[in-house]
Amino acid sequence: MPTSDNPTAKTLAELGVASVNDAVQLFTDLMSQAVQEDRLIHTMEQFEQFRVKWIGRKSGIVGLVSENWLKPAPLELKRDVGLALNAFRPWLEKLIEARRITLESGPEEAAAKDRVDLSLPGVIRPIGTHHLIRQVFQEIEDIFFSIGFSVVEGPEIETPYYNFEALNIPEYHPVRDDMDTFYLELPKGAPGPLLLRTHTSPVQIHTMEKRQPPVRVIVPGKVYRRDNPDATHSFMFHQIEGLAVDSDITFCDFTGTIDYFVKQFFGEGVKTRFRPSYFPFTEPSVEFDASCVFCGGSGTAKSGGTCGKCKGAGWIELFGAGMVDPAVYGFVNYDPKKVSGFAFGIGIDRLAMLKYGIDDIQVFFQNDVRFLRQFP
Ligand code: FA5
Repeated sequence: MPTSDNPTAKTLAELGVASVNDAVQLFTDLMSQAVQEDRLIHTMEQFEQFRVKWIGRKSGIVGLVSENWLKPAPLELKRDVGLALNAFRPWLEKLIEARRITLESGPEEAAAKDRVDLSLPGVIRPIGTHHLIRQVFQEIEDIFFSIGFSVVEGPEIETPYYNFEALNIPEYHPVRDDMDTFYLELPKGAPGPLLLRTHTSPVQIHTMEKRQPPVRVIVPGKVYRRDNPDATHSFMFHQIEGLAVDSDITFCDFTGTIDYFVKQFFGEGVKTRFRPSYFPFTEPSVEFDASCVFCGGSGTAKSGGTCGKCKGAGWIELFGAGMVDPAVYGFVNYDPKKVSGFAFGIGIDRLAMLKYGIDDIQVFFQNDVRFLRQFP
């Protein structure tokens, strides 16, 4: 790179600079020049000369760099020269400010300003708490731990095979419409498609692929759907999946387990019931209801009118569940003649709303501390 007495008076082209490396080298040279000159300053007069020379409005070096290097820089260098100048300017201003402080207050006082007094009391930072959703996850996990379940987790990004096909939902099955989701934009040629999981049920498949029965797991996690946000819907929400598979699991084990969970979670006074439902991966399938915790199952609000939470029904729908469909065992090489089991998928956000009397799901995601502080 050709040198010059005052390189900032010339353009990069005039200096013969054609590469980013050479341009950066120019800035490095300027920095060492500034440091050397700064060290020779002992009086306010010298300081003022130095300041004007480097950052003076009319012909300061920083201004020249901007005028002569940056503005006419060729397109391929412009971005990097701009970035280098943006780093150089504040660095130089700091150097000048430090010298000013040293001159005004003497070197010892300047150093004292930077010293930390270790005898001062520390800064007390407020300690947060777990978000209510996390607390509810923990409550549910503790209940299932007590009856022999363990926790497993699975990926939030899935293949259609795990999210749908291996759960007995073939490509054109209408149930896919209820679980419309977000597909990832992948680079050309990448294996795909990939999607954000619509439920925690794919982790049933991952678990059974890895483990032989007996299996007793719960799966907490985030799930995603293209649902429009309203008081009970969010496009991202939380579920806990449950799966128990063994050689002799009956419908009775299933109902007993769910009943135990609901009573532990909501209290002994809550009644439970099943209604027939449909999921392609369970047979029979049920929706599970609990008696309304707000009106005690009467359908009448304490104030006298119809209970607004259960709309007078006395029951609130909690989650879907069922006995694992034998077709699913075919996807994980379990023998449907030898094993049986049950599965359930609980929407955590709605469960938390019910237990804590929250009437809008959106408050979970708005980070309003006035709401969060109510659940320490
Ligand atoms: C399922 O997701 C099944 N995978 C559940 C299941 C698992 C059934 C295992 C059988 C065996 P469903 O689409 O009904 O089912 O969703 C389960 C729960 O998620 C619902 O009961 C509800 O509480 C919650 N949920 C569904 N959509 C939303 C949403 N957009 N926002 C908040 N919660 C939702």
